[in-house]
Amino acid sequence: MNLKVGIIGAGPSGLAMLRAFESEEKKGNKIPEIKCFEKQDNWGGMWNYTWRTGVGKYGEPIHGSMYKYLWSNGPKECLEFADYTFLEHFGQPISSYPPREVLFDYIQGRIKQSNARKYIQFNTVARWVDYIEEKKQFRVIFDDLKNNRTFEEYFDYLVVGTGHFSTPNLPFFKGIDDFTGSIMHAHDFRGADQYIDQDILLIGSSYSAEDIGVQCYKHGAKSVTISYRTNAIDCKWPDGITEVPLVTHFEGNKAFFKDGTSQSFDAVIFCTGYQHKFPFLPDNMRLKTKNCLYPDSIYKGVVFNENPQLIYLGMQDQYYTFNMFDTQAWFARDYMLGRFELPSKEERDKDIDHWMKAEEAADTSCDHVDFQTAYIRDLMTYTDYPEFNLDKVAAMFKSWLKDKEESILTYRDKVYTSVMDQTKAEKHHTTWMNELDDSLERYLDEDTIDEKELSKTNYY
Ligand SMILES: Cc1cc2nc3c(=O)[nH]c(=O)nc-3n(C[C@H](O)[C@H](O)[C@H](O)COP(=O)(O)OP(=O)(O)OC[C@H]3O[C@@H](n4cnc5c(N)ncnc54)[C@H](O)[C@@H]3O)c2cc1C
Ligand SMILES: NC(=O)c1ccc[n+]([C@@H]2O[C@H](COP(=O)([O-])OP(=O)(O)OC[C@H]3O[C@@H](n4cnc5c(N)ncnc54)[C@H](OP(=O)(O)O)[C@@H]3O)[C@@H](O)[C@H]2O)c1
Repeated sequence: MNLKVGIIGAGPSGLAMLRAFESEEKKGNKIPEIKCFEKQDNWGGMWNYTWRTGVGKYGEPIHGSMYKYLWSNGPKECLEFADYTFLEHFGQPISSYPPREVLFDYIQGRIKQSNARKYIQFNTVARWVDYIEEKKQFRVIFDDLKNNRTFEEYFDYLVVGTGHFSTPNLPFFKGIDDFTGSIMHAHDFRGADQYIDQDILLIGSSYSAEDIGVQCYKHGAKSVTISYRTNAIDCKWPDGITEVPLVTHFEGNKAFFKDGTSQSFDAVIFCTGYQHKFPFLPDNMRLKTKNCLYPDSIYKGVVFNENPQLIYLGMQDQYYTFNMFDTQAWFARDYMLGRFELPSKEERDKDIDHWMKAEEAADTSCDHVDFQTAYIRDLMTYTDYPEFNLDKVAAMFKSWLKDKEESILTYRDKVYTSVMDQTKAEKHHTTWMNELDDSLERYLDEDTIDEKELSKTNYY
């Protein structure tokens, strides 16, 4: 077998692809020639935090949208790798909602066990892809940013793992061009510190609005107002956070809302989501979708239907993350290795249609969890990705949704039990609201005592 596989991106999805091949190689089976290209200088994708915004050292758009004080917004037990547990990595139980650096450490722990780094060329950006009909191969043009050199490579299969939470969706509101305070998109948010004592307006009502709002509240913003277009987040907000309908327009630093109210603000943060953006792909290979659970045109959420040598990973909206990328990568691997044949294009179209209709029929967040659970269950029937109890993970997601509804400020203090090795999470030494240091060092420091908690109970 002389197949050549190109992987674009070394975030959790690209790394899952490398891991899938590596696990095959470990069994003594021959694997294709693999090359992975990553535009940043390290792996981890979103989890590789950068202080930079705008463009990077080499003038490329910054990929990262994560920020200081970012903690997992779902229980880690829902995203755990089935072949590398948190207990195996940390050697001790940890809490259910670790901060970014801890999760980054976990992602790296698994991949460092392998020789995957040798397959990755860092500081290298995919610039353009052509499908060469006569060769039945992709020609990909790359820029080696560090050496300012352009080169091309040919691949039989191309795996796109470039993520889809990086290019801001930035709508216009009348009068915003005259707003006197600061304006940014969540993609450029790097921490709450600059909003201390400020009245801030967040536009959007999904995870970024919820989390950035709560962060800014926690770190000392004077007030947080969240403006929704379709549905309010509608949880029990503390005094200081309010939800209002959509902004109609701005006049100076004053925002006007659909319910007729208005307020002056110091800053606006657009939490209006992201665009699926593939500037390196021609029109006929580009995935065109909004952020949803079953994007059109990709069979089993992975294989591009118009050209099945093109593979997409991680393009769905995400309840499940790391273990979903794994099941997709295992599926893609076995498909590329010829372990199963794809049905005809018509059959594939029907299958895509079936899943898209099922998503349309899913109404509530719990339905969406069930949908993604069913999707992963289906993918797992094709591969030997280690089985895990998906029903229990779905139940954890539903419990997490309830926890958030009950208390947005304390849900991260709850603990869950791993379905991979039955380890019960430890309570973190400090409640999330009192924890202002998100470093790995402090997180793992077992001797730390939550002094604010102790003072409340008069132990000293
Ligand atoms: C603010 C924020 C918070 C999040 N918090 C959580 C959380 O708490 N828990 C959770 O499970 N998930 C969270 N996520 C979801 C997160 O996107 C996934 O966990 C995961 O990072 C997706 O992996 P990926 O590899 O598909 O994409 P990414 O992590 O985005 O990685 C894509 C990689 O492709 C590279 N790349 C892009 N274009 C090119 C190119 N042209 N050439 C070469 N390389 C390229 C990028 O540099 C990047 O390294 C969060 C996302 C955001 C935006
Ligand atoms: N770890 C963490 O704590 C954390 C923090 C932040 C983000 N994240 C992750 O980041 C990812 C992206 O989340 P996201 O919230 O940025 O994006 P998202 O889930 O796609 O939500 C986009 C939001 O923008 C709104 N919107 C879009 N266009 C609009 C417009 N023209 N006017 C007004 N509102 C508009 C949408 O409203 P409609 O409902 O009306 O469409 C929706 O509320 C998720 O996977 C999330 O889990 C995690």
